[in-house]
Amino acid sequence: MTITKFEKSDMLCKRAQEVIPGGAHTYTKGADQSPKLGPKFIDYGKGSHVWDVDGNEYVDWAMGLTAVSLGHAYEPIINAVNRELLRGVNFQCPSPIEVELAELFLQEVPSAEMVKFAKNGSTVTTAAVKLARAYTGKNHVAFCSDHGFFSYDDWYISKKPNNSGIPEGIDKLSLTFKYNDISSVEKIFDQYPNQIACVILEPMEFDFPEDNFLCKVKELCRKNGTVFILDEMITGFRLGYPGAHKMLNVDADLTTWGKGIANGFSCCLLAGKKEIMELGGINHNKKRVFLISTTHGAETHALRAAIETIKITKQENSVARNKEMGTKIINEMKKLIEANGLNDHVEIKGHPCWPLMLFKDENKNLSDGYKTLLYQEMIKRGILFRGTFVSTISHDVLDLEKTLDAFSGSFDIYKKALNDKNGYKSFLVGDPVKPVFREWN
Ligand SMILES: Cc1ncc(COP(=O)(O)O)c(C=O)c1O
Repeated sequence: MTITKFEKSDMLCKRAQEVIPGGAHTYTKGADQSPKLGPKFIDYGKGSHVWDVDGNEYVDWAMGLTAVSLGHAYEPIINAVNRELLRGVNFQCPSPIEVELAELFLQEVPSAEMVKFAKNGSTVTTAAVKLARAYTGKNHVAFCSDHGFFSYDDWYISKKPNNSGIPEGIDKLSLTFKYNDISSVEKIFDQYPNQIACVILEPMEFDFPEDNFLCKVKELCRKNGTVFILDEMITGFRLGYPGAHKMLNVDADLTTWGKGIANGFSCCLLAGKKEIMELGGINHNKKRVFLISTTHGAETHALRAAIETIKITKQENSVARNKEMGTKIINEMKKLIEANGLNDHVEIKGHPCWPLMLFKDENKNLSDGYKTLLYQEMIKRGILFRGTFVSTISHDVLDLEKTLDAFSGSFDIYKKALNDKNGYKSFLVGDPVKPVFREWN
């Protein structure tokens, strides 16, 4: 059955944009990120499948922007969360579960000695930056410009085209460098001697570190009295267990976690060395750092979700299983790309636990138009695919077979578009998806 009807989605989309700026609560979920012929609202999910508000069912390879690490409505998690909900979620004093999760997490991530919980990834990356500034007494922040996103806060967004609302001059405190380009890191340390509070990057995104890059960055941080921060928001519990830093054999002064650590529930955390983290505490004689202070940061049911996710991720060996599935995906996709003669136009790369596909036009340039056409054609065939494969232990061989069939059919259209004088425009209904970071709508 071909999926082409999105009436309820489109109606909700209109209503949402009247009452919610952007119509969604992260810009990557906005209507401008979806093909016109695509679901804008998901009603519910179970395992590796989701159903949109028009009743269309999909194999889901997006999994809540990587937050859902085991599967939608994964029963052992839901049961544990339900038990916690019945006991109340928020009290005047901390709840013992805060200590339980803190101790458990530190057992799993031995390079860290203290943790602080929050509800959003942006909160913890910004907290890491603040702590680094307080610890070092320096103001500048360096982040990797090749990595997708770190925070909606000023230190990051001030460097983006959509920086309206951020006071002029804030951007001067943020510096950028390139992944796997150690000279770009050395350059900023040379240009801003003794001024850089921290360097923050993901351990890796889609490119593996080369030539000992991460250790070299860490070493430069050591030499310059700079805090080294690894953001494990996506890579944690996904590229390795507990995170990519372990797989890549490097640890950091501070690490930031969220998304998959609680199977979609809102639990993020900042972890790190006691000497730095303790500045946010109440038992020292130094100047106090108002670190993370949020009413909802330690909601008991979300912390329970994290505790259960840790247990199940280990019990089910989910990283190894995802790697197996991802390896199959990469191998099968490579065959399919080759068989369709699309080597110059479609590429698959990255770690098997999070493969990325790139879509290129007639001239072999990356193309949002062709990418959107591919999304549209996959949706028609019952697959919700947003450029990367977020596999979980809920995905099975039938999901994979259905996905490969859908790619096969979608590639037929892709090839027709490449050979058409109007390219993707002859086949795509509506506009291509737009970049999230843009100055104007
Ligand atoms: C690497 C990384 N860091 C931080 C964040 C921010 O997380 P959140 O959306 O929970 O605020 C994201 C979100 O996409 C991310 O991918």
